[in-house]
Parts: sequence; C-alpha cells; structure tokens
Amino acid sequence: MEKKITVLPGDGIGPEVIASAVRVLQVIGKRFNHTFHLGYAAIGGAAIDQFNNPLPNETIQMCEQSDAILLGAVGGPKWDNNPTHLRPEKGLLQIRKHFDLFANLRPVKAFPSLLASSPLKREVAENVDLMIVRELTGGIYFGEPRKKTAQAAVDTCVYSREEIERIVDNAFELARLRRGKLCSVDKANVLDTSRLWREVVEEKKKSYPDVQVEHNLVDSVAMKLITNPGHYDVVVTENMFGDILSDEASVITGSLGVLPSASIRGDNFGLYEPVHGSAPEIAGQGIANPAATILSVAMMLQYSFGLKEEAAEIERAVSAVFDDGYFTADLAQDGTRVLSTDEWTDKVINEIDTSFVSD
Ligand code: NAD
Ligand code: IPM
Ligand code: MN
Repeated sequence: MEKKITVLPGDGIGPEVIASAVRVLQVIGKRFNHTFHLGYAAIGGAAIDQFNNPLPNETIQMCEQSDAILLGAVGGPKWDNNPTHLRPEKGLLQIRKHFDLFANLRPVKAFPSLLASSPLKREVAENVDLMIVRELTGGIYFGEPRKKTAQAAVDTCVYSREEIERIVDNAFELARLRRGKLCSVDKANVLDTSRLWREVVEEKKKSYPDVQVEHNLVDSVAMKLITNPGHYDVVVTENMFGDILSDEASVITGSLGVLPSASIRGDNFGLYEPVHGSAPEIAGQGIANPAATILSVAMMLQYSFGLKEEAAEIERAVSAVFDDGYFTADLAQDGTRVLSTDEWTDKVINEIDTSFVSD
C-alpha cells in the first residue's frame, strides 16, 4: 500500500513525540511492505513564528493532498498573550473545522503493566476499556457571537440538530461494534443545547435497539468516571465536556502520555494526535512519553488505511515494552527502568523487529 501523510510536529514536546511516532511508522512500513510518503508542514506557534499565521495556506494545501494527518501538539507560554487569531490553538481548531473532522475518538484502555502507575486502586482501574466520542467542530469552541472587552466577555454555545445527529449516530455505531452500551453526557438540567442533545439521543435510540442507553449529567460523570470507570463502554458528549473528561480519564491509565486520538468525519480521511498538549515544562529534555503519539499512528493505520494487523502490531509492541518494565518518567514506578523518549522508542522498534525475525 502507498499512502501520503502530512506530518505537523507543532510546538513543545510535539516534535519530540512525532519523531518517535514517525520512526515506528517507518518500521511498520518496512515490515509490512507499505510505502508512507511523509510531508512536513508548520502549525501552531511554529507557524506563527515562521508565517505569522497558526495555519498557513501551504499547510492546508499539503493536508488536502494527503490521505491522513499526523499531529504532535501546539501551544506554549511564548504565544499565550497573543490575540485570539494569532494563538497556536487557533490553528488546531481551524484545521479540525476546515476538514469537518467532527468525530474525535479517544479510547481509554488500562494497560495491565501500568496499573501501579495509576493513583487509582488496582481493582478500580483494571480492565477499563472505554471510548470517549467527543463532538469536535461545534459547541462553545466555535459559537458566535464571541467577544471580549476589558469589562465583559461572551462565548456562545450553539448546536444544530444535524451536528448532534451525526456524532450521536457515530457513537451508536461504535457501541454496536463494542459492548453495546452508550452513556450520553450532558448538562440538561441547565443548558438548552443539552436538552436538544438529549432529545436527539432519545430519537436515535429507536434505530439502535441493540444498544443500551443512559443519560448522565456531566458533573456526576466526572465523579463516576474515577470511582467506577469499568461501568463505561462508549461515552458520547459535546466538545468542551469531552475535552475535560478525556484528560480526567487519562488518570485511570497512569498518564496523559498514553492516550491517543483520531479525529474523523465518516470517510477514510482523518487527523491523528495525542490527547495531551505541548507540555512546555518538559519540552527539550527528551523525557516526554511518545506512547500516545505512537498509538495515534496505530489509529491512523486502522481507521484511515484499514490496516488492522499493522495497528495491532504497534499496540502489541507498546504493551510488551511496558510489560518488560520500561517506562518514561511520567509513568515511573519504583524499581523500574526509566528511559528517555528515544530509548523507549528504541525498545518499541526492537520489539517490532524481533517479532518480525521470529515470525
Ligand atoms: P499538557 O497536556 O501539555 O500537559 C499537562 C501535564 O501532563 C503536564 O504536567 C505535562 O508535563 C504532562 N504531559 C503531557 N503530555 C505528556 C507526555 N507525552 N509525556 C509526559 N508528560 C506529559 O497540558 P497544559 O500544560 O495544560 O497545556 C500546555 C500547552 O499545550 C498549552 O498551550 C495548551 O493550549 C496546549 N495544548 C495543546 C493540545 C493539542 O495540541 N492537542 C492539547 C492540550 C493542550
Ligand atoms: C485538545 C486540546 C485542544 C482542545 C486545545 C489545545 C484547543 O485541549 O485537543 O484536547 O481544547 O480541543
Ligand atoms: Mn484537551
């Protein structure tokens, strides 16, 4: 198979974790006889510095000619006081909107060897396997009017029925392929957008009689996700609730550094990125955990290219390296070997190569 991928390293630890993920992608290509053509482009703070634009036209054009996008992370203190249109985060929001990537899949799976890295009790975190389906191109992130003066500021949360229908359909389809349970998260006791959201879920559930549905308020889910994460299969929610709940859910796994994501729209195209940000305080030290970005490559192989075996091989290799007791600093357990970003990536690559030799 031959595929074109646009790589957007971004800021902070973005370029570090992307370098690891690209190495793993190339080794998978070699082993399974695929050619991945990579083109690099600028986004976020790096693009502001170079082009005075967090999402330059050149970047959009390269992405348009690609089969998928792999992104590191954007943002950092250097640009925090910039006006809204010149912030790194604006580039990320624009690229999601430009390509209509409305469905953000954020799987949260407990690795057995990471249970000791989680602050949760082993019996609470073990066997967790849930999927947060986050609406990504609507809600308060994009609503108008939006304005700030020194005296007041306004953001607007808007959802059309159509926007809710397509993400809810997506979540039902996923639940059907998994354990058949869907939890819809809203704030219907306060917000009208949530009331419409709940109505749509109620209507849609008639078309999916095989899926068991529950509605829950976001404040309560924030608590239950930590006290009883094993209860959840697919969790579907609006843009901002999904952002917050997914960082919270990373605690179950032991680190934000292991959560991957796929942003898709119903065809084969997609943008793949870790859930975490640019982690400026550890950038440049070579200690970031590349697992989330490596696992995002696995999601790309699966969702955009249909390469299930290749995706499974990446997941197996990552898991095997954890099982061997190798961790980056964020996951460090007593008595374990703490590796740098590159050393840990070497272990994953070695694992893939070794299983090739022994096949
Ligand atoms: P963050 O996700 O960058 O970091 C949160 C915490 O997790 C920090 O302690 C960080 O050191 C740690 N962490 C994150 N990823 C890690 C990794 N791979 N390995 C080890 N430790 C890791 O969130 P933040 O500090 O709130 O935000 C920093 C910047 O990132 C901000 O500018 C924010 O806007 C941006 N951000 C970007 C994205 C994105 O590009 N998708 C996502 C979230 C935040
Ligand atoms: C994420 C990030 C982004 C978001 C920011 C950086 C715009 O937190 O991808 O989770 O809020 O969507
Ligand atoms: Mn986030």
